[in-house]
Amino acid sequence: MELPFLPLFALTFSISILFPHSLSVKDDSSSSPFPPNFLFGTASSSYQIEGAYLADGKGLNNWDVFTHKPGSHSYSLFSKTFIVYIGKKIQWYMWLYILGTVTDGSNGDVADDHYHRYKEDVDLMEDLGVNSYRMSLSWTRILPKGRFGKVNQAGIDYYNRLLNLLLARGIEPFVTISHYDIPQEAVDRYDGWLSPEIAKDFTYYADVCFKNFGDRVKYWITFNEPNVAFIRGYRIGIWPPGRCSGSFGNCSVGGNSEKEPFIVGHNFLLAHGSIVELYRTKYQKIQGGKIGLASHTMWFEPISNSTEDKMALERAQAFYMNWFLDPAIRGDYPKEMREILGDDLPPVPEILKRLKPSIDFIGVNHYTSYFVKDCLHSACEEGGLGSTRTEGSALTWAHVDGRTIGKPTSLEWLFIYPQGMEKIVTYIWERFKIPIFVTENGVGWKESPNLTINERINDEDRIDYVRAYLDALVTAMRKGADVRGYFLWSLLDNFEWTDGSSIRFGLHRVDYDTLERTPRMSASWYKNFIALHGFGPATKPLHSQE
Ligand code: NOJ
Repeated sequence: MELPFLPLFALTFSISILFPHSLSVKDDSSSSPFPPNFLFGTASSSYQIEGAYLADGKGLNNWDVFTHKPGSHSYSLFSKTFIVYIGKKIQWYMWLYILGTVTDGSNGDVADDHYHRYKEDVDLMEDLGVNSYRMSLSWTRILPKGRFGKVNQAGIDYYNRLLNLLLARGIEPFVTISHYDIPQEAVDRYDGWLSPEIAKDFTYYADVCFKNFGDRVKYWITFNEPNVAFIRGYRIGIWPPGRCSGSFGNCSVGGNSEKEPFIVGHNFLLAHGSIVELYRTKYQKIQGGKIGLASHTMWFEPISNSTEDKMALERAQAFYMNWFLDPAIRGDYPKEMREILGDDLPPVPEILKRLKPSIDFIGVNHYTSYFVKDCLHSACEEGGLGSTRTEGSALTWAHVDGRTIGKPTSLEWLFIYPQGMEKIVTYIWERFKIPIFVTENGVGWKESPNLTINERINDEDRIDYVRAYLDALVTAMRKGADVRGYFLWSLLDNFEWTDGSSIRFGLHRVDYDTLERTPRMSASWYKNFIALHGFGPATKPLHSQE
């Protein structure tokens, strides 16, 4: 790429890439805090980058259908204008939750067209010097109708080509079996996650994946962020299938915000357990891989030193993250959930008690932190996030009692609070003592119109964010957390779910008209950082054909 070296741009660019190591980490690799074989990578998911939504026999998934629903765009624009007018962030957030789907009317039909451009994208990874890549498989590219149809050989061939190319370049694939996507067939036949039937479909699909790819994939993640998928899909109804009730949202398809999240959560735990049991009994010994689960994580900073607010932190973690990590690792729900929900909580599947722990590593997706305030002993703002009984009676938000937790970004939910990375990783390590991979971390920005290309790729703010979060991660590691990898979200700008193409998370900018990829300053920064602290390819090339 040719860069016109405008003076200011040139100065900031050189400063940033010349000092990739300006962490609290020492300036020479001999004192690197990252252990040998530490994985440095980038992360992505199939729906967000692949496009080709009907190519070569692929079937429709829940996100294909959801993003094509008519009318959602204008609703969302209306909600944004309305909320900006009344000027209250928390209400903005709630309204977006109630009305919005994809704010710019885009969808993942084409996304980054990675399906056709994967070679170019692997070149970009190789240029960065990453030794790993977190990706997800598209369920309906492999099984267009779930277990009710045939395996789509074209889908298997595509992933074989991609995996082989990654390995030929010394890049370890870190594969998520499902990153929010399920076959529409499963939704139409039995309401998807609402039925325990989903466990059969998921296990059937995982079996196809292990059989076809397990000789080369050594790190599996069963599912990405069940907490986010189920809160957004079944409590506040802004993600597929758009179900909710009462004051939680305005869902035309029905739902029960106080019950369904726990039902789908239970069915997910069944599915997860069943996949892990299959892997452990049939594949793990022969294939020698590891299996884990990726959770969205938040650090919650008590708004005061009161015992009540400190206890609210535990409840917030219980109802957000430990809701899934505890059953997956300890075979039971967190005690805070049991105390509050009692018999409203479905049983933990027996399979998880047998497998305990059902994961070999924890995937930590971490971006931001919020304050937390007790709502059990004192009244909280009505409708505040987390404030109801089924959310743990712990209000969590970036603005509480006139204080804001960190620097805002273009994303309503993302505030910069690097200390949160150190605190959440330490918390998870101390609670579970299971190896951790930071499976996602990064920051997204909205791009203003009328910028020059230089302005579009000058992302010093992203560099500052990543540097600060890595610094905090290193602090947690120095205090003893067993962290084995870090995946930056993301290699490319991509389809950011209900924010569509409006929010850009990429080390590489994607021009959505031409699909051209242009490295941002952060790509050079990350490349230099890895060169200084990385350890080269983690795997030897297995296949020479590309
Ligand atoms: C977590 C999700 O796994 C990913 O799909 C999303 O794009 C990032 N967070 C950024 O919001």
